[in-house]
Amino acid sequence: MAKFANRVSDIPPFQVMKVLARAKQLEAQGRDIIHLEVGEPDFGTPAPVLACAQQALQDQLTHYTPALGLSELRSAVASYYQQQYQLEINPARVVITPGASGGLLLVFALLCNPGENVLMSDPGYPCNRQFLRLIEAQAQSVPVDASNGYQITEALLDQYWLPSSRGVLLASPSNPTGTLASRQQLQAISDGVSKRDGFLIVDEIYDGLTYDQKPVSILEINKDAYVVNSFSKYFGMTGWRVGWIIAPEDAVPGLEKLVQNLFIAAPTLAQQAAVAAFEPECMAILEARKIEFKARRDYLLPQLQQLGFKIDAPCDGAFYIYANIEKFSNDSEAFCLKLLEEQGIAITPGIDFGSHNARTHVRIAYTQPIKRLKVAVERLRTALAN
Ligand SMILES: Cc1ncc(COP(=O)(O)O)c(C=O)c1O
Repeated sequence: MAKFANRVSDIPPFQVMKVLARAKQLEAQGRDIIHLEVGEPDFGTPAPVLACAQQALQDQLTHYTPALGLSELRSAVASYYQQQYQLEINPARVVITPGASGGLLLVFALLCNPGENVLMSDPGYPCNRQFLRLIEAQAQSVPVDASNGYQITEALLDQYWLPSSRGVLLASPSNPTGTLASRQQLQAISDGVSKRDGFLIVDEIYDGLTYDQKPVSILEINKDAYVVNSFSKYFGMTGWRVGWIIAPEDAVPGLEKLVQNLFIAAPTLAQQAAVAAFEPECMAILEARKIEFKARRDYLLPQLQQLGFKIDAPCDGAFYIYANIEKFSNDSEAFCLKLLEEQGIAITPGIDFGSHNARTHVRIAYTQPIKRLKVAVERLRTALAN
């Protein structure tokens, strides 16, 4: 008999971790590695957030908070929706979570029974499948590509919805493609899911990072949808492990019970610190960072195209470029490992995000300053010429 439960062998490791582990080994040998693999901003946590955390430590604010989160933070999150989307959100609908990861697990645990499935795009954020596996539910992969803007469409919903399907998870902007679902697409999916009496979860973790168009929150369209978001990306707080869910009011007691039992609450210090993230001084810093991300994208995208990468995913948001490497390889993992060994560039193979066209795609994160991106482009030029 196996020593560990089946779910452990069913859940694959993050491929990017393999790349990262090798990158660290090479760095330990003195090699200069350009990290374009990790999905986190290179900017540190903004100073006003740090100051707020320091004050909270000094004041010994280190006890548990209520399961649903600090009321001050729940109100601040609700106000963010007023500012960004002109939406009135009752703070009672805001549930503070240990990152979007905690939020996704909670929402799936709230909504899915064993054996039921949730439609999600392939390529997509890999951990979603594993959250479902953990609760004995399943991901129903929906292949997306340039023909559907790398997002689930109504036609795909018709094609992939099964009797065991309970709902749909979208991410806009998406990881790994950086693509946004348009208002029309969101409306169509929302209608399609409602017609089937299903639930709709939208991961809006990158909503603060859109460059050419204003993001649309699903809550502008469907007040019964579940939004998962986090302080990790736009707010530069990956390691603090704090995020939020906006849930329909009748779902909050169920979520509260789940948070109580699974986590007790999100980390107190992180919640205290996050209150400062919405203050104007901090938002000004974050908006300046967004401009920098846009400049990086505008530099890197044409450079990659010139080098022969085919990029058909409009990278309108997040900090990722999802590139087709067909011209160079049909084994994204071998391609990434070779680039790392020979040129010291770390990027993520498509196989991390699903199986649809995964061997011919890679994800490149522009989470390095333009100066470093320029070095990366030169090294790529050398690599691809050989
Ligand atoms: C689409 C998406 N959702 C959720 C997460 C998890 O984020 P968090 O750090 O808030 O747990 C990530 C992290 O990369 C992500 O890209």
